[in-house]
Amino acid sequence: MTSMHASLLATAVALALSAAAPTLLAADAQPWMNKARTSTQRTELLLQAMTQEEKLLLVFGYASGDQLAQVDASVIPGVNAKEVITKVIPGSAGYIPGIPRLGLPAQFQADASIGVRNPYLERTSLPSSLATAASWDSRVTEAGGRMIGLEARLSGFNIMLAGGVNLAREAQNGRNFEYTGEDPLLAAEMGAGLIRGVQANHIISTVKHYLINAQETGRNIVSAQISEPALRMSDALAFELAIEKSSPGSVMCSYNRINDVYACQNDKWQNQVLKRDWGYKGYVMSDWGAVHSTVQDANGGLDQQSGFPFDKVAHFGKPLKEAIDDGSVPQARLDDMVRRILWAMFDKGVVDHPLGDAKTAGAIANAIDYAAHAKISQQAAEQSLVLLKNEAGVLPLSPDAMPKRVAIIGSYADKAVLAGGGSAVVTPIGGNAVPGLGPGGWLTQVWQPSSPMKALQKLLPATQFAFDAGTDVAAASKAAAAADVAIVFVHQWTAESLDAPSLSLDGNQDAVVSAVAKANPNAVVVVESGGAILMPWAKDVKAILAAFYPGANGGEAIARLLTGAVNPSGRLPLTFPASTDQLVRPQIGGKSEGPLFTVRYTEGAAVGYKWFDLHGHKPLYAFGHGLSYTSFELGGLAASQAKGQVTVKFSVKNSGNREGASVGQVYVSAPQSAKWEAPRRLVGFDKLALKPGQTGTSAVTIDPRLLATFDEATGEWVIAPGSYEVQLGAGSDDIRATAKLSLTGRRFTSAQLRR
Ligand code: BGC
Repeated sequence: MTSMHASLLATAVALALSAAAPTLLAADAQPWMNKARTSTQRTELLLQAMTQEEKLLLVFGYASGDQLAQVDASVIPGVNAKEVITKVIPGSAGYIPGIPRLGLPAQFQADASIGVRNPYLERTSLPSSLATAASWDSRVTEAGGRMIGLEARLSGFNIMLAGGVNLAREAQNGRNFEYTGEDPLLAAEMGAGLIRGVQANHIISTVKHYLINAQETGRNIVSAQISEPALRMSDALAFELAIEKSSPGSVMCSYNRINDVYACQNDKWQNQVLKRDWGYKGYVMSDWGAVHSTVQDANGGLDQQSGFPFDKVAHFGKPLKEAIDDGSVPQARLDDMVRRILWAMFDKGVVDHPLGDAKTAGAIANAIDYAAHAKISQQAAEQSLVLLKNEAGVLPLSPDAMPKRVAIIGSYADKAVLAGGGSAVVTPIGGNAVPGLGPGGWLTQVWQPSSPMKALQKLLPATQFAFDAGTDVAAASKAAAAADVAIVFVHQWTAESLDAPSLSLDGNQDAVVSAVAKANPNAVVVVESGGAILMPWAKDVKAILAAFYPGANGGEAIARLLTGAVNPSGRLPLTFPASTDQLVRPQIGGKSEGPLFTVRYTEGAAVGYKWFDLHGHKPLYAFGHGLSYTSFELGGLAASQAKGQVTVKFSVKNSGNREGASVGQVYVSAPQSAKWEAPRRLVGFDKLALKPGQTGTSAVTIDPRLLATFDEATGEWVIAPGSYEVQLGAGSDDIRATAKLSLTGRRFTSAQLRR
């Protein structure tokens, strides 16, 4: 080393030391900022450094400006609500102040599962969660979650109120579009994918709405009445599995009561099940306006009151301080609330990956690549939309057999596709394409500016397209008669806080479809809906595509599926009934307002296809159903057991002449002695993309809870010994192979599975 090198090195070392010194000091002063420590260690260190006022600050959330403006007093010790108003992102879901002294960032909360929801911000929307659940592919929901989570982060949010996994127990539930279907395994897999994707952006996602918030009618006054085993094997199982598969930082408790006790103060389901039996380490935040008391909610396991003043009383503000002072809420309970929030903030990266400087709405929107994000949304739709019927090869409308004239009828298909309403609706890039519809205010109908007709025109340039609004039956019939192919778009708008009044399409839509089917032998129907609808015309039309709410580029996705640019591969995540008398409850019970009421879920865990199987009902379109433009041979089914784990293997051959994806679905039937709620359950599935002639193989491991019943007396899962049947299907109504599986008896707890 030359002397010059030596002196340069000495200078460099001195510089490095002087730069490092403040950091070391800071790390010493704030040891919880040391990333080498675990989230748990950092949490404990920070908790010890907090004052009582700071702890109370963290467990209390504010809503955004409009609502906050009504608050004039200091509702929690040491904080002036008026100051809070200046920090909240306008139009957002909520805000919890940070603690700069401790380096703890503020929490900025944004709805929801399909994108950043804010009336003042235009953002990219995924297809509805029910739509992407129809992909039967958690890679699709995870990619979507990554995209919307990035938009959330770049819009100044570090908490996303995503991850709806309530089971579609009621076909009319106005929020089914926000959830991931009727089966606990499918719902959990699809919801978990989304949550993993959102949290990959170092922000927290919720999973919601815990628990059994199965209808919107009277959601604040209804009590969901159901036995513990039934709930453990259905709706709760969806949450249990989703939490295990994605570790969401937060769980949002729901509005309803569960067996008479409000969800957010429910000791049984929050303290005993979620936190004790499932070992959940994150925090429970309330839904907006779902808190009913200080002491019962705090002791019942709620960790953070959200969105004040949605609750008229600031239960976790001054009243919580008083309850701790007088001992009705133990100090240890407040510490536990704070511990859980801090843990989630450390563990999910909220502390270590602060948001950019621009916390003002829209200020950093330029960093978002909207074109790329629209493509991600489109790909999600292309993997998800379900071809329900395709007779005489009417689809795809390929350029080789190009129809000369196509009539497009109804549902604003010349300019837009529909979205579901409420707190999950995303303001589209370019604005609402069909303004002024729906009840108005926060329940204004939103139409994504993505025209199926224009997209079809692009893909079939030599075809003449004519649009008819579908408002008049005679005009629609005339338009259909003048074309070689008639594509009718029908829609059903559903929204948070409103259940669908019925499963029938409103207005004259059914009459329009029937008239079109009479006027044109090549009638195709595209359905945009929140969930299942009745289709009295199903047998009269040639093809039906279930598009649900297909998202920002839904029009493009629909066009690519109809023309065969993409081969449909979605499968139904819920049953489409043939008539409402096949449902457990043909009409949703209760009233929106008035005295408390109860809905008895007498079907227990027999939700969706399980109910249909149990009663031998033949649905219009079964759970798991979905067609492709190619064909698949499923076989090679073999089930084996090693070290208590059951693995099912099978193979799929693409026996047609187009590339396509199959979803191999594995169901199991139990012997009578096992006393299952229904003849069979979905226990695994695998989506495989295959070239013509190609064969792929799958191996799925069955979660033992899916083979068990829940024993309330001991808190154990019980697998009954005996001979089971494994079924391999292309749909729940299309079983292609069966195999025997002999199981020995077994008892275990959820906690034991985690070890
Ligand atoms: C909804 C939640 C939502 C919250 C915040 C409530 O009305 O039920 O899903 O996250 O509002 O906007």
